[in-house]
Amino acid sequence: MEPSVSAPSSSSLTRRPQWQALQEHAREFGQCHLRELFAADPARGERLQVEAAGLYLDYSKQRVTDKTLRLLRELAGACGLQERIAAMFRGDRINTTEDRPVLHVALRAPAGARIDVDGRNVVPDVHAVLDRMATFSERVRDGSWTGHTGRRVRNVISIGIGGSDLGPVMAYEALRHYSRREMTFRFVSNVDGSDFAEATRDLDPAETLFIICSKTFTTLETLTNAQAARAWCLRALGDTAVDEGRVIAKHFVAVSTNAAEVQKFGIDTNRMFGFWDWVGGRYSMDSAIGLSTMLAIGEENFRAMLAGFHAMDEHFRSTSLQRNLPALMGLLAIWNANFLGAATVAVLPYEHYLKRFPAYLQQLTMESNGKHVSLDGARVDYATGPIYWGEPGTNGQHSFYQLIHQGTRLIPCDFIGFCRTLNPMPDPHGGDQHDLLMANLIAQSEALAFGKTAAEVKAEGTPAVLVPHRVFEGNRPSSTLLAERLDPHTLGALVALYEHCVFVQGVIWNIDSFDQWGVELGKALAQRTAAEIAGSNDPELGHDSSTNALIRRYRRLRETGA
Ligand code: F6P
Repeated sequence: MEPSVSAPSSSSLTRRPQWQALQEHAREFGQCHLRELFAADPARGERLQVEAAGLYLDYSKQRVTDKTLRLLRELAGACGLQERIAAMFRGDRINTTEDRPVLHVALRAPAGARIDVDGRNVVPDVHAVLDRMATFSERVRDGSWTGHTGRRVRNVISIGIGGSDLGPVMAYEALRHYSRREMTFRFVSNVDGSDFAEATRDLDPAETLFIICSKTFTTLETLTNAQAARAWCLRALGDTAVDEGRVIAKHFVAVSTNAAEVQKFGIDTNRMFGFWDWVGGRYSMDSAIGLSTMLAIGEENFRAMLAGFHAMDEHFRSTSLQRNLPALMGLLAIWNANFLGAATVAVLPYEHYLKRFPAYLQQLTMESNGKHVSLDGARVDYATGPIYWGEPGTNGQHSFYQLIHQGTRLIPCDFIGFCRTLNPMPDPHGGDQHDLLMANLIAQSEALAFGKTAAEVKAEGTPAVLVPHRVFEGNRPSSTLLAERLDPHTLGALVALYEHCVFVQGVIWNIDSFDQWGVELGKALAQRTAAEIAGSNDPELGHDSSTNALIRRYRRLRETGA
């Protein structure tokens, strides 16, 4: 049957012959052990790999054969993956529930490129903002931008939440090696006042610059923290009306798409760095939302990061599915989630600087693909977005790896490692600590794939009663991403890889990976509850009995402590 490129309704995805062929294939082959796959094809580890934009992916330890990969590509063809990739890059309104194009790829397009939104080439707009960011960053970094009292800025605090925080925090931590060490960078996101209090307690307001990051500039947490920052600065730097304007002018800049709200807060739009509604919050770390990143690592490094993003974009846009790194990773995720029944993916960077990468990926993957209806609004009859989580190696090995090795659940792992360390550190045995780190990464994927049989355990002289406890079944799938070293270019490529991998999964599931309606209900209920909690008289409560009781208990204990 000819694959159709029209978007399927939810039930038509599972009725597609390509989907059913994969189900049949999973039934026949699904339990086949990685030991057998490697025995049948000893060169598998050299063959099942792909490389792009400085990233090498070894996917030979995934539970797939050439047939699995062919069937997955056929499914991708039937779901119109390549047409959907082209549609995204063209600026089609593929975020249908918000009627918006999805053009984070324009944020890293080179200056001469052309990408139209409603007939306007947006690439010059992107570069105009980048140039303004660069000028401002340089002034702060060289000390010519001073605070209200004339002192130079030594501390930068970025206030934002979700996509206006997780990317900047992750990038700052990831690229700390390249950062201006004499400056302090902090991030405040939580509406819990402890976050702000701890971020500011040892800083001098006269030397502190706040970046208020919010796409909408209406987000409760961010505006609450921005008001706290304003009060903190004014308390120290003067609070007459005249002072207020001057203090805000010197200590606050905004990053937003909403100029009117920025002005309402008191930040002049000439100190606002804009972006556009075609950039999703969780896809915005390479827009002006990354201003803290540029302040930390400088313009040149920031542009190198954009070049890394762009290199992966070009690879994704123009490479056949067979050698397309994000497409392959996305299709492997579909195989593991929908045909092998894995509910989660562990992301395990063996690079301490990437310690916030799993947290960043959680929003990217789960806000994007945590959807239960397809584009046409029908309830899906297949699993969508798996749960992404993780911790850097080797710390995780002494914590949750036990369950991955010997538990009853299937947890596919993405290992991420670098061949050169940024901090060479001789180990007592004459090598470098980095060799130990990487030995662990490589050993973990081997142990997960091949395990240890009962016969092997017995042969070691293990008492019979302990043999079952010491068996490793193996056949736990993993992919390994290797790059030469963590630098801005590589980080850009890595983030773009996961962005596109998420997109590929969303295309197969026929969901809108770019909206996030699921966050709305909780926000609305919190507003109502905040009003009920705020008043001094006991409010009339019309919730369920659990919610009513919690509100009453909170009010009582807050007030009396008894
Ligand atoms: O609540 C979810 C969300 O809308 C995210 O998608 C977004 O990244 C975050 O809130 C912050 O939004 P904003 O940048 O508009 O403050």
